[in-house]
Amino acid sequence: MTTPDILTAAALLKAGKLVAFPTETVYGLGADAANKEAVLRIFAAKKRPKNHPLIVHIADIKQLSLFARDISEDAMKLAMAFWPGPLTLVLPKQPHVLPEITGNQETIAVRIPRHPIAKALLEAFQGGIAAPSANQFTHVSPTTAGAVFKELGQEVDMILDGGACEVGLESTIIDLSKGTPRILRPGMISALQLSHCLGKEVHYLNEVSTTRAPGMHTLHYAPSTHTELLSATEIESRMQQHHDATALITHITPSKPLPAWLKVFSMSNQPEQYAHDLYHTLRMADQAGFSHIWIQTVPSDPTWDAIRDRIQKASGKKNA
Ligand code: TXA
Ligand code: MG
Repeated sequence: MTTPDILTAAALLKAGKLVAFPTETVYGLGADAANKEAVLRIFAAKKRPKNHPLIVHIADIKQLSLFARDISEDAMKLAMAFWPGPLTLVLPKQPHVLPEITGNQETIAVRIPRHPIAKALLEAFQGGIAAPSANQFTHVSPTTAGAVFKELGQEVDMILDGGACEVGLESTIIDLSKGTPRILRPGMISALQLSHCLGKEVHYLNEVSTTRAPGMHTLHYAPSTHTELLSATEIESRMQQHHDATALITHITPSKPLPAWLKVFSMSNQPEQYAHDLYHTLRMADQAGFSHIWIQTVPSDPTWDAIRDRIQKASGKKNA
């Protein structure tokens, strides 16, 4: 990535245009967080309901107080430990923050990404960049520039290509705006890591919430092909019958020959590598013309929490 590209992208953002850029998690669809029309273009491009708030990306921790207030000791500890990186903090918002960004809520989500292109863009732009994942609402988030183009094509004024995203799943979101910190969305920074950092147990927000957290829809991060989450036993019994062409996404190497109608997409049995590959694999399977996608359930160990969350949502299941 050359500096002229970064400067062009920053100038486009200043002019109220949309720029898609890589982060270490997934690609974001960026707009100037201080420009209402630009922010509204994000919602139009993604066909996203206006009450779904956006994450504001910043370059430096010094900018946090420009967007958030009442920044607690817990928030500072997490920011110091995990930024730049795949963690989003939800905090009380500063009064001037556009209601279009926060979905009219009193809180704001902020993160400092660590991808070098995201960092360079934020430094050149010198302001907050509001950016959701660069996909159509409810679709799988893009982890390559090509996937952004397929999702948003002409809707975006520039796409910065930073190759495949390192983490591959969206950031962990933690709400620090209330008394007890709560994880709104699991990510590859785990509950255990957050608990260690804060010196107290941090839990997921499980109950139905009034905050509009991501993926609280039953169907989110979803391919267009009919997708199911199945245990090894369920897959075994389905293989006894004939099915239309089906993709099987699994981290287990099949021990016996498979029927011709079943194509295996092999995943790693290590959560980091599985997370890195998941969305790309879902896209490949989705575009290959299968009638069904089956995803094999993953281990119950907490290091798989974020992956389990996304494959449940890809298959429209909340509590599988
Ligand atoms: O890794 C990521 O977080 C990526 C990259 C681009 O940074 N972004 C991302 O954005 O996943 P998005 O919009 O697809 O998901 C962010 C979610 C939204 O769905 C929204 O519900 C939640 O963050 N969110 C934003 N502001 C919030 C707030 N004030 N309270 C609760 N949830 C909030
Ligand atoms: Mg998204």
